[in-house]
Amino acid sequence: MSKSHLYVTRHLPDPVMTALTERFHLTQPPETAPPNRDTVLAGIRDAEALICTLAEQIDAPMLSKTSHLRVIANYAVGYNNIDLDAAQARNIIVTNTPDILTESTADLTWALLLATARRVPEGHSLVQHGAWTGWEPRQLLGADVFGRTLGIIGMGRIGQAVARRAAGFKMPVLYHSHTPKDFPNHSSWKSVGLDDVLAQADFLTLHVPLTADTRHLIGPRELQLMRPTAYLINVARGPVVDEAALVEAIQEGRLAGAGLDVYEHEPAIHPGLLALNHVVTLPHLGSATHATRIRMGMVCLENVVAVMEGRPAPNRVA
Ligand code: NAP
Ligand code: GLV
Ligand code: GLV
Repeated sequence: MSKSHLYVTRHLPDPVMTALTERFHLTQPPETAPPNRDTVLAGIRDAEALICTLAEQIDAPMLSKTSHLRVIANYAVGYNNIDLDAAQARNIIVTNTPDILTESTADLTWALLLATARRVPEGHSLVQHGAWTGWEPRQLLGADVFGRTLGIIGMGRIGQAVARRAAGFKMPVLYHSHTPKDFPNHSSWKSVGLDDVLAQADFLTLHVPLTADTRHLIGPRELQLMRPTAYLINVARGPVVDEAALVEAIQEGRLAGAGLDVYEHEPAIHPGLLALNHVVTLPHLGSATHATRIRMGMVCLENVVAVMEGRPAPNRVA
């Protein structure tokens, strides 16, 4: 039996590549760095299946160049990089990788929160550069985390996983989500309005998808409502935050700092963010563990195979 044609845009972890090449013919070799538009167009032209990442924009003009494509499996839970309407108009099924990356992403959220509050990268850099002259009572003082209030916007899979970890830090959780949610087993979690989360959080973490509604959800008005001692943590999507407004708020001392894993114009970063102390910047590492990145690939494979075999895709989003 001849193998179906798959275009996988990027070199995924080895066990995933092995599984993909056993089952499919790859239309062209996957790239390590983000491929340019022409490369993606050449890859999908004759493909029946596409596995792409959040770094590739799969838009309507691009999809209009395909004639055999039946499924797009996004190697991510967020799928704002894909034009769902254009896919649906062509009867192309779109899938994502929910659940299996939730705990890894929640761990990274806490790593970033703690690193930001306790100035971990600055301390590391001081030691690495041989600039540490010994223990000092006033060196690199940061903010306490234990017992402070955690604010969460977007109480979905990752938001809840982040909230569960707050118990160990004895942090009350205030959250705001799209549709009301009740968590009877978590008496320290309280649903409040957006403005109340903003005004009361010592650490505000974002876990919404990027949609028309959440673009610049955190802008000048929202930053103004936050405490000057508060920190913003964004492990969701860059455009959820108005980056220029964030820079201004921190520069003017209206916000204590930020921990960012994602950016408005990835991989470009607002130069103001790089110039600020109290801003910790990571290169979009939310799901980046060996085990999770392999599982994500296997989930993409399962979804693609399901569509090829005429079965329902387990993680269909459109
Ligand atoms: P999820 O389970 O769908 O959770 C998203 C939550 O946001 C839902 O509870 C949703 O409410 C809520 N929401 C949507 N629009 C909102 C709005 N306007 N205001 C307030 N809440 C809103 O998704 P997830 O698996 O937790 O993932 C969340 C996002 O994290 C992904 O979409 C992705 O962009 C990002 N992510 C980033 C990384 C990284 O590497 N940095 C890794 C994984 C995920 P409803 O349930 O009522 O719709
Ligand atoms: C990563 O950002 C994802 O959405 O999976
Ligand atoms: C610090 O190292 C202490 O012992 O307080």
